[in-house]
Amino acid sequence: MTTIAITGSASGIGAAAAQALAAQGHAIIGIDIRNADVQADLATPAGRADAVQAVLERCGGTLDGLVLCAGLGPQVEPASKVAAVNYFGAVTLLDALLPALARGHAPAAVVVSSVASSQLPWDRNPIAAACETGDEAAVAAICNGAGDKGGQLAYAASKNALTVAVRRRAVAWGAAGVRLNTVAPGAVETPLLQAGLADPRYGKAIENFVAPIPRRARPEEIASMIAYLMGPQAGFIHGAQFFVDGGVDALARPTQF
Ligand SMILES: NC(=O)c1ccc[n+]([C@@H]2O[C@H](COP(=O)([O-])OP(=O)(O)OC[C@H]3O[C@@H](n4cnc5c(N)ncnc54)[C@H](O)[C@@H]3O)[C@@H](O)[C@H]2O)c1
Repeated sequence: MTTIAITGSASGIGAAAAQALAAQGHAIIGIDIRNADVQADLATPAGRADAVQAVLERCGGTLDGLVLCAGLGPQVEPASKVAAVNYFGAVTLLDALLPALARGHAPAAVVVSSVASSQLPWDRNPIAAACETGDEAAVAAICNGAGDKGGQLAYAASKNALTVAVRRRAVAWGAAGVRLNTVAPGAVETPLLQAGLADPRYGKAIENFVAPIPRRARPEEIASMIAYLMGPQAGFIHGAQFFVDGGVDALARPTQF
């Protein structure tokens, strides 16, 4: 029996991933702020430390997989909280759980980033340097100082930094024998998307944005990519980002890949 820890397991993509991986026979440790095996607030350093400790206790120090889905949309205030969960809540767990993963059976991790990760490229990402040095106070100050659309900045910038953080770990994780990739969804029918649609600052733009495949994804369509990347068929896939976005990235950046 292999054990996979999943953040954001209570809803949306994380819940669908938990279901898909459980159906393959894996034991799941769900981590979320509510309705989970491990209840912890990934917005705070103390909550992240609690989550790591509880996961290590439950898995006995050996983990076969990690799927990081927990995240907040751009409508959440303060904007610093978006970056706290989306970037620090993910990267802290990656680094803290690597030793347990390195002891696992054919271990792999998948991080859910976003198609928004390419909206604000690294060389124009205002929180890039502070993310890399782990300066959470500086990231918070930049996000909260960005005004009305600070949430959008925090969302796109934290997802860009998250994808970069994964790619920067490819060498160390490869040496440790643990595969690590990101999935970048476009619009997916989940409570996070619904909350964005309901927000007067973002709703119209989300509503009016139509992918080349003119619909939104179902959470299961993201979960199936996550399950594939976690499995043995993906044994040579590492350090990569997979867009599951109905063609949005191709539409926005046809010459960049
Ligand atoms: N839905 C979309 O259109 C979309 C598009 C691109 C990327 N994503 C990403 O997919 C991931 C999953 O989002 P979703 O759409 O399934 O949303 P969702 O709201 O359905 O699920 C997110 C989960 O994260 C949990 N969470 C939030 N803050 C937390 C905290 N502080 N501590 C612990 N858990 C916390 C929530 O409780 C929830 O269960 C997110 O990282 C999101 O950014 C979503």
